[in-house]
This record gives sequence, structure tokens and C-alpha cells, in this order.
Amino acid sequence: MEAGSQLGVRQISGFKDFYQSVNQTRVIAGRDLLSSTGFEMSKEGARRVFVVTDQVIRETGLVDRVVAGVEDGGLEVAGVFDDVPQDSSTDVCDRCGEEAKAAGADSFLAVGGGSVMDTAKIADSLFTHGGTAAESEGFYLMPRAGDSLAPLPIAPLVCIPTTCGTGSEVSMGAVVKDPERKVKLEIADFPLFPRLAILDPESTRTLPPRIAAATGMDAMTHAIEGYVSLECNPHQDGRSLVALRLIRDNLERAVQTPEDDDARGQMLIAASLAITISLGSTHSMSHPCGARFGVPHGVANAINLPHVIRFNAEGGSDIADRYRDINELFGLETGGSDAEAGDALATHVSSMVERLGLPSRLSEVGVPEVGIPLLVEGAMGDGLTLLNPREPTEQDYEELFRRAM
Ligand SMILES: [Fe+2]
Repeated sequence: MEAGSQLGVRQISGFKDFYQSVNQTRVIAGRDLLSSTGFEMSKEGARRVFVVTDQVIRETGLVDRVVAGVEDGGLEVAGVFDDVPQDSSTDVCDRCGEEAKAAGADSFLAVGGGSVMDTAKIADSLFTHGGTAAESEGFYLMPRAGDSLAPLPIAPLVCIPTTCGTGSEVSMGAVVKDPERKVKLEIADFPLFPRLAILDPESTRTLPPRIAAATGMDAMTHAIEGYVSLECNPHQDGRSLVALRLIRDNLERAVQTPEDDDARGQMLIAASLAITISLGSTHSMSHPCGARFGVPHGVANAINLPHVIRFNAEGGSDIADRYRDINELFGLETGGSDAEAGDALATHVSSMVERLGLPSRLSEVGVPEVGIPLLVEGAMGDGLTLLNPREPTEQDYEELFRRAM
């Protein structure tokens, strides 16, 4: 049978008819970088900086150090918005954009995790182009001038991630909750690439181990799903495999010995390498878990990932061979049947999740069994389902959610 011709299996190997790899964010990584935030931001054209963060991070004193770094570079801080919740929403983005406008800012600096960075991206777009977050859903939908294909830029945005997982600091995507429609709104377009990401382990020094574990599992899910997505490609493969090597060597160290700067720094790099918008069914399942039942994104991925790996591996040897590559990297069994290859990786992921102290079942994190139809509906409607290497049916998702319960 030809690759990709099996029912429900999509082509993931061989020379592709088309793919694109885009990477527009300047990255600086290393130690003691926060004091040069202003100097680096001035290279991006910033003069009056609007800082976006959350209250927890502000209380750690990190924002004060970053603000001092901005001012040291001769820039002004126009205002600080520290009202981003753990799971941000469209109304927060609207408010953040309006406050930046009222403050007379000309640029954004996000200091925080995925929720903060995604809020800053969308707020920046509203600040620059107007409109509301709720109307902004979709891929490649940012304003264009007239008939031009070139999207209009947004004000300079710089990100300092305080978790090692989301990768939003180097991606063109943003996900926030739409509380009215109870869905996760996914937005992606080229202008949303931050101009600069500053990766300094100092910014993750106070990260609680549980969040380090959950966000680290998000990075791991990006690397694995990115490697096995329908849109996997050699550019992304290289990034995914190096990210997985860094995660293999540093995730548990970073969680178990939080004072280990090296491990935290390597995890920041891993997260920024692993990010891709070519994901799959783990993310499709985790988005409604968050939107409907408030399950943190990384926790939902940690729970759902092993089940999706087993499901996909049984979809054909094209897919299972990709998992075999990952098995090799983790020193796992690479032989056996396709199902066995998937099972080896899924079992390894589950034991890692356990060692990291994360929950392994949706029922442990407040998802009731009666919620499965809602979750199935959310997963089927999620755009990333289209990129999963094996096409899931409604019944497949129902079974996957049951296994994850
Ligand atoms: Fe994710």
C-alpha cells in the first residue's frame, strides 16, 4: 500500500508538494540579559513601552527589574497592565489594548507565560488596527491594505517568557478564551511574531515546580505533535528533535531542582524550538478541556498526549516510524509492531508525567464524564484536528476522551 493511501491516514513522509517554514523573531538567549531590555528594545524602534504582565509575576519583583532595564536603555515605561488572568480572555485583550492607547505607548513588552504573551499579541493588534478581540478569530486574517497580500504590521512587541512551554514568544499564534461562546479563540498571522524574545533563566527563577512541569509538558507535546503532524517538514523536524533532546535532559532537572539555572535556561530554549502551529489531536482535545472545564493547557496535554500517540501509531507505519525516531532519542524500543512502537512512547510519556507529579486523568482535574459530548464537539471543531496525521472521527474522540478520564 502506498504511503498515505490507507483510509484515514494522511501523507506525512516523502517530498512534499508544499510547505513553508517561517521564523521571524529575533532571539537572544543567555544570562543577565534583563538589564539590557531597553537597549535591545530600542533596536526594535520602541520608545514608550507598555508592559503586560500578571499580578503573581509582578509580586516576585521581576517586573521591577525589567522596568529598570527598560529605563536604563533610555526608554520610557508608558504603563504597566498586570491584570492578565491565568487563562486570559477576549475582554482582557480589549481592555489591555485600550489602556496602552490611553497611556500613549508605542510598543509592547510582555513579561509572563503564554496567557500574558498571547494577550499582549492580540492587544497590540487591537491597539494598532482597532476592532475587538472577539472578531479577530482565524488564520491569516490580520488587516491588509487594499488588495495587498502583505499584512499590516503591529507595534513592536518584545516577549520575556517566565515559563518554559508555550513558545508564544517566537510564534505567530495566540490563543485566548472567548467567554461568551465558551471556546478557545485561535488567531495566527505573520505580524503577530514578536520582534524579539529574551530568554534568560533569571525570568523563570520563581516558577513554581508544578507550573514548570505542566508548561514543560506543553513544550514536549509541541515537539512530539510537531514532529508527527500532517504538516511536519524537515525544518520543523530539526527543531522538534533538538527540543526533545533538551527536554529529555533538562525537564525533570528543572522541575526537581528549581535552582538549576542551566536546566531552566535549556528548557527556555527547548520551548522556543518546539513551538509550531502544525500540531494535532492532543491540542484539539486539550483546548476544549481548558475552555469548558478550566484545565490548565499543559496539564491537559500531559493527560491527553499518551492516548493520542497510541491512536496515531495504529494509523499506519508512516506515522509509527515517526514515533520510532522519538523512541530512539529517548532510548526506547524502536522495533515491534506499529502499535508497540506507539505504546512504548506513550508509556514513557505517562511515567514522565507521573515523575513530574502531574495528574494523569481528566477526572482528577474536574472534568466530569458527562462532559465528554461537549469535549468531542470542541475537538472536532478545532482546526488542529485537520493536521493530525490520522483522521479522527467523532467516535474516535469519544473513545480517546473515555481513555483519558
Ligand atoms: Fe500548547
